[in-house]
Amino acid sequence: MPLRLGVMASGAGSNFEALVDCFRHGSLCGEVALLVVNNRDCGAQRRAEQLGIPWELHDHRLQPNREQLDQALVQAFRTASVDLVVMAGWMRVVTPILIGAFPNRLINIHPSLLPSFRGLDAVGQALAAGVTLAGCTAHLVSEEVDAGRILVQAAVPVLSGDDHASLSRRIQVQEHRILPLAVALAAQG
Ligand code: GRF
Repeated sequence: MPLRLGVMASGAGSNFEALVDCFRHGSLCGEVALLVVNNRDCGAQRRAEQLGIPWELHDHRLQPNREQLDQALVQAFRTASVDLVVMAGWMRVVTPILIGAFPNRLINIHPSLLPSFRGLDAVGQALAAGVTLAGCTAHLVSEEVDAGRILVQAAVPVLSGDDHASLSRRIQVQEHRILPLAVALAAQG
């Protein structure tokens, strides 16, 4: 069955575009049916406009609480008949309302080898800890932040002379590889 994927993004949207590419080149079967952004004019929104993918703005600042935002997201994804949702750089904590609407079908991408370096600025945390291996994790979303079941991970070396930007770039190349794999795994149940 072709997959109808929903994507949530707050920032540049490179993972969103990598997913669109996989559908268009045939390594995933289906389409990105809806992108949701919470920041007007973010990179993800501009990519959606260029790629011709339907998108909606759901600005968290206009909602009284997290639950109301998530309720609006669930409604949007249901209206778009979405089967599975990816948080591709969604910089908000989500609630059981969204998690419960897509059981085992809500995926997050995080720039560390979980369970190391949960939370904000995982790349900075890895550099500060002095690790020699960093990486990224695609995982199912649970109520505890960055703690759900791991689907796919990729490791990259931390090179001498790396700074935040260079290590982030190396990790992002791998994010774009593993996120479509995680989508395929979750879609197969
Ligand atoms: C990625 O590094 C992801 O791991 C983190 O947010 C970043 C999003 O990047 N959660 P992009 O917007 O997909 O380019």
